[in-house]
Amino acid sequence: MRFGINTLDDFDFKGKTVLCRVDLNQPVDKSTDTLKSIHRIKACVPTIKELSDKGAKIVLMAHQGSDIEYKNFYCTRPHAKVLTELLGFEVKWIEDVCNPTARNAIKEMKNGEVILLDNVRFCSEEQTLFEMNLKLTHEQQAKTQVVTKLAPLADLYVCDAFAAAHRDQPTLCGFEQVLPSAMGRLFEQEYCVVSELMEQPKHPCVFVLGGAKISDAFMMMETVLSSGAADKVLTGGLVGEIILSAKGLEIGKGTLDFILKSGYGDFIEKAKGIYEKYSDKIVLPSDLAEVKDGNRVEAKTGSIPADFNAVDIGTETSKIYRDIILNAKTVFANGPVGVFENQPSELGTKILFESMADTEGYTVVGGGDSVTAAKKYNVTDKLGYICTGGGALIRFLTGEELPVVKALRHSAKIFPAK
Ligand code: 3PG
Repeated sequence: MRFGINTLDDFDFKGKTVLCRVDLNQPVDKSTDTLKSIHRIKACVPTIKELSDKGAKIVLMAHQGSDIEYKNFYCTRPHAKVLTELLGFEVKWIEDVCNPTARNAIKEMKNGEVILLDNVRFCSEEQTLFEMNLKLTHEQQAKTQVVTKLAPLADLYVCDAFAAAHRDQPTLCGFEQVLPSAMGRLFEQEYCVVSELMEQPKHPCVFVLGGAKISDAFMMMETVLSSGAADKVLTGGLVGEIILSAKGLEIGKGTLDFILKSGYGDFIEKAKGIYEKYSDKIVLPSDLAEVKDGNRVEAKTGSIPADFNAVDIGTETSKIYRDIILNAKTVFANGPVGVFENQPSELGTKILFESMADTEGYTVVGGGDSVTAAKKYNVTDKLGYICTGGGALIRFLTGEELPVVKALRHSAKIFPAK
């Protein structure tokens, strides 16, 4: 047991049916039915392999896509293919979550076998909007369809989905109420690293906030500034542009339209209050870049043309951010600061990730896009720790007990390991 949670060392898995919640959520290329990155899938392999080697029947549950930020659900078929390749034996994909097809497949499993159920978020009770609107307790989650249909077929529940540990959803927090539970190896490792780091971050401690999950980014900003953890917050992408707009500065029609169309208009008002309170610590872009006819065009903040459509921070900002990162003792980065997938708009993200590789401070990178960026710029080996979690890491940094941690701790109390 660690942190009051059972680990894989606490149970005998031989012949046991294990419901194992993993986070395999990755960008998908729907036109080819393939995944654009497999970082999170690779990270789950040690737990799955260990359970299989120990003779368990492993039923993997995972989500793909989001109903709030991206609205991009997809099936888990490509993930089963990747897992099959990584593990070197077949991981059967079941086109069902908890109906008879899934339940019959579970009943037929042999020791050491692994199956992957379809996207659990195809069940409405597993969706984030359902979570946010109904706020079911963990006991109520144990009475949902997915838990009542699957739990009777299993002996144990394992959660290896640290990246989803901030979600209060039945496949994450419901099974612990009715089954002896443990965290998987990835969960254990990530929880341990981030706990130790946040106990005493070395200062100056810098947070780089970009990415597409705007609500998460603002939540993190407020938390790390009010707790004193952050000495500086470097803003990029939509986060920086929203604050610039909150200050009354022109960010260009294209940029503003995108913010409004994405449903982030409310954050402009919210950002005003945060910026007024912490203007000495929040660093804003001093220039931005757009792409016109395939070419990168930059403009200084304060002289942004009315028809501008920002897709990156500018060169001057990138240099300022680089200096701050090089002088930091701890750097957390969540999300890229521009559309780094395209060459004309990758400069800011490239410089930031290279700076994190060059700094002597300890660097932690979280979230799927950041991992992809770290790979693209060949800096994965030079970063201190790459966390599979983005949102989970952010919520963890708020100091709150993550819902999944709470559920696993509760389970350890009501089902003590022998
Ligand atoms: C993530 O991508 O951060 C995790 O898979 C959780 O996804 P969510 O934010 O859609 O719940």
